Amino acid sequence: MIGNIDNLLNFTNDIYQKKELKPVFVQIADIAQHLWEHGWAERNAGNFSINITSLFHIKELERFSAYPFFPLQKRYPDLARTLFLVSGTGTRMRDMARNPVENICFVYISDSGSAFHIIDGNQEGVSIRPTSELATHLAIQQQLLQKKSPEKVILHAHVTELIALTHLAPFTTELAVNSLLWGMHPESLLFLPDGVGFIPYTLAGTETIAGATLKGFEKHKVVLWEKHGCIALGKTVSEAFDYLDIIAKSAKIYFQCKSTGMEPQGLTGEQLQEIRNSEIVK
Ligand code: 13P
Ligand code: ZN
Repeated sequence: MIGNIDNLLNFTNDIYQKKELKPVFVQIADIAQHLWEHGWAERNAGNFSINITSLFHIKELERFSAYPFFPLQKRYPDLARTLFLVSGTGTRMRDMARNPVENICFVYISDSGSAFHIIDGNQEGVSIRPTSELATHLAIQQQLLQKKSPEKVILHAHVTELIALTHLAPFTTELAVNSLLWGMHPESLLFLPDGVGFIPYTLAGTETIAGATLKGFEKHKVVLWEKHGCIALGKTVSEAFDYLDIIAKSAKIYFQCKSTGMEPQGLTGEQLQEIRNSEIVK
């Protein structure tokens, strides 16, 4: 445990200076810029969490419990003593791109799994609070740990093309939306052979959306939130972004075809089967 405030401030500095975190910050800045440029992050839209527990020694992790703590609405027993780098609520991706350090906070889950400590680099109290979608992030992060999945990153964005798709009644089922996404672009099937999950409209920032999203991630690496946006998993922030980028392209191809006044043909059943049987990248 940390004995006094000076030690605490020194430790906060050490966290931010940790060399293993440098490439993480670089990638966050890069992807935040892409999200902004794609128009997928208006105002404070979008958020992310990254499980960075493995970058810290157990003795270092113990020291995180000296920081201010806040109770959680639910208990996450499998997340006890895990550490996350989380985007701050209300922060803008365009600011994140220039300065990730000032737009994120560290969230350390308490021994009981029912509270979290915040470390945000501000020396006079906590100024950055974690994303309002923290319940969804923690529920999924816990599921990833339980399944021993290699993914450590959860990325939420307001991908315009995908939101538009979920406003069209014929695509508001998992079956229909996946048929469309796969049919419009081979990469969607190649890189997301299990397709995407589809969650009917639910108020964001609630335990209800967290629970529904958790179900969606039992089988998928991406989940669409009807009329709101989407969430992707990845081993890195870059990989999570790639999944969204690929299916956004499918949706875009669909809308471009429709804008000609004609109906797209889409890949045929045989062509899709041929892709499924192929040995190309997975
Ligand atoms: P936060 O700023 O709280 O992360 O909210 C952004 C968002 O996209 C909510 O769904
Ligand atoms: Zn959102």
